[in-house]
Amino acid sequence: MALHDIKTFRDALSAFPSGVTIVSTTDHEGRHWGFTASSFSSVSMDPPLVLVCLAKTAESHAAFVRAKRYVINILSEEQQEIALQFSRKNADKFGQHAFRFGTKSKPHPPVLPGSLASLHCVAQDCHEAGDHTVLIGRVDDIERCDATPLLYFNRGFRKIEREELAFSS
Ligand SMILES: Cc1cc2nc3c(=O)[nH]c(=O)nc-3n(C[C@H](O)[C@H](O)[C@H](O)COP(=O)(O)O)c2cc1C
Repeated sequence: MALHDIKTFRDALSAFPSGVTIVSTTDHEGRHWGFTASSFSSVSMDPPLVLVCLAKTAESHAAFVRAKRYVINILSEEQQEIALQFSRKNADKFGQHAFRFGTKSKPHPPVLPGSLASLHCVAQDCHEAGDHTVLIGRVDDIERCDATPLLYFNRGFRKIEREELAFSS
């Protein structure tokens, strides 16, 4: 793709509003890994599958490709700072925030309290796709919190306006 086409592609993608997630895992040495992701999507209802796309250049890439479990935390509008923190390379990501970590008797990946939802995933599949890897997870536990979502649109964080649009399903 020519350079100007890549810019057009990026600009077009930035026109799609999304939520924001932090994906987290703990490796076999007990080291925590996480990154901010807007590429989250549901995949299947039965079985319950979700996906997130991770750049192969990410520091955490190897850890997530190897991970047996991870958690996808869907962020609230209160969690913009932590979204920024988890989008920085070589940052102290887990030191400053109140994650709930697994224990020996109850091991699980880091959970971010106050998220709208924390989806506990068993790693089901990894697909190489260009410069990213698609991580597909099967959800086997969910924690919920009543909050307003953080949005990402046109390369910036946004807050939802509280005017509800009527829709029919
Ligand atoms: C709002 C937002 C959404 C992002 N979405 C993704 C994504 O879906 N996939 C991805 O690989 N990186 C995404 N990033 C960039 C990563 O969070 C960033 O590259 C991070 O440093 C990767 O972590 P690591 O290199 O420390 O492992 C996003 C960044 C922001 C601010």
